Amino acid sequence: MKIIEVKNYHEMSRRAADFIINKIKIKPNLNLGLATGGTPKGVYKNIIEDHKQNHTSYEHVKTFNLDEYIGLKQDDSNSYYQYMYENLFKHINISLKQTHIPSGLNENNQAECTQYERKIVDAGGIDLQLLGIGSNGHIGFNEPGTPFKTKTHVVDLASSTKKANARFFNNMNEVPSQAITMGIQTIMESKEILLIVSGKAKQDAMVKLLSGVVTEDFPASILNQHHNATVIADEEAMELVK
Ligand code: F6R
Repeated sequence: MKIIEVKNYHEMSRRAADFIINKIKIKPNLNLGLATGGTPKGVYKNIIEDHKQNHTSYEHVKTFNLDEYIGLKQDDSNSYYQYMYENLFKHINISLKQTHIPSGLNENNQAECTQYERKIVDAGGIDLQLLGIGSNGHIGFNEPGTPFKTKTHVVDLASSTKKANARFFNNMNEVPSQAITMGIQTIMESKEILLIVSGKAKQDAMVKLLSGVVTEDFPASILNQHHNATVIADEEAMELVK
């Protein structure tokens, strides 16, 4: 893993956006894996800004998101579909037909998982996967204990995850109990990985990640075995590493 330490969230966002934009310049039909959550919002802002100023084109880019809640309609303000539409897709020249997010509304979730894997393979695989990390080391919705060999699958959300997400909903009953996520193997099959990390809440996670110990108890640790992974982390996230 290549580690790039930057000053703060602002710089992490700019560096990660430049990283992605440069890949698109080299390969205009890049298959780009995307993440939701707080960390990538600044990256998406920079991508939008660059698109407006420099007209980087997303016409031939295909995107594949890591995960989606089961049971939320696309237009639900908490769906990851809505997050991606509001924070990125509606601001750049990408056809929604070229954006892929697992559907949490398929009557057969298992079939949805299989179809999602197939879509990635049929597109030729993911060229670059953007990732965030949970403070417990989760990537996508792959919580500690998830076997490294998993492909896209259905997860029951841990009550801690439901509680953490409850702030976005009116009450606990509205928080979905399940999600679909790319598996750890799906993520590892990406040709390149870019992990972005910012802030105090991720300090322990960075210590564990950079210890080099690879264990299913800390899902992100597998990234140590990826042949082309870069981490852009800010000073605050890196503070306990030195
Ligand atoms: C998002 C995702 C999650 C987040 C992680 C960190 O699609 O799959 O694994 O990347 O929970 O979230 P933030 O960035 O909010 O700290």
